[in-house]
Amino acid sequence: MDFLELAKARYSCKKFASTPIEKEKLEKILEAGRLAPTAKNNQPQHIYVLSSQESLALADKITPCRYGAPTVLAVAHDTTNVFEYPGGAYDSGAEDAAIVATHIVLAAKDVGLDTCWLNFFDPDKAKEILNLPDNEALTILIDVGYPDESAKPLPNHESRKPLSETVTYR
Ligand SMILES: Cc1cc2nc3c(=O)[nH]c(=O)nc-3n(C[C@H](O)[C@H](O)[C@H](O)COP(=O)(O)O)c2cc1C
Repeated sequence: MDFLELAKARYSCKKFASTPIEKEKLEKILEAGRLAPTAKNNQPQHIYVLSSQESLALADKITPCRYGAPTVLAVAHDTTNVFEYPGGAYDSGAEDAAIVATHIVLAAKDVGLDTCWLNFFDPDKAKEILNLPDNEALTILIDVGYPDESAKPLPNHESRKPLSETVTYR
C-alpha cells in the first residue's frame, strides 16, 4: 500500500474480534518499533506485550478502553536513558516512546491489524498494576487485533484540519 493510503486507512478501532494475533505478525510490528529513531539512538523503550488472560485483566484494571483487543502493548521507557533538552526542563522519553508506537500502529495496519492508541489511564497507577521497575514510565497503551465485523472508523476519523491551519511557511 502507498504510504498515504496506509496513513488514511489506519483508524482507531473501538471493537475488536477476539481472534489472537499470529506470532509472525506480532513480531513484525514489534520489529517496526525496534527500527524507530530515538533521541541520540538511546532506545529507551520497553514494550510489554499483554495477551494472557491475566495480563488482559490487568489492562482492564488500567483502562476502560481495551475494546475487546486480544493484545495490548504497553509502551514504557527507561527514564534514566533519555535525552535531556538543553534547559533541563524536558526530556525525550515520551517522545521516543511515541515514535516507536507510531511505527507499530502503522506497521499493524500494513499487516491487516487494527489498533487504538490509548492514554486514558493514570500512568502511575498503571505502573503499579503492571509492576514496572522504578526507572520506567508508561505513557502509551496500544490495543492491537483484528477488527470486529461491525467495527468502523468514528466520523471524526475523516475530520482533519487543512494544512493551511496547521502549517506556517516563514
Ligand atoms: C495520544 C492519543 C491518545 C488517545 N487516547 C485514546 C484513549 O484513551 N481512548 C480511546 O478510545 N481513543 C484514544 N485515542 C484515539 C483518538 O481519539 C483518535 O485517534 C482520534 O479521535 C482520531 O480518530 P482516528 O484515530 O480514527 O483517525 C487516542 C489517540 C491519540 C493519538
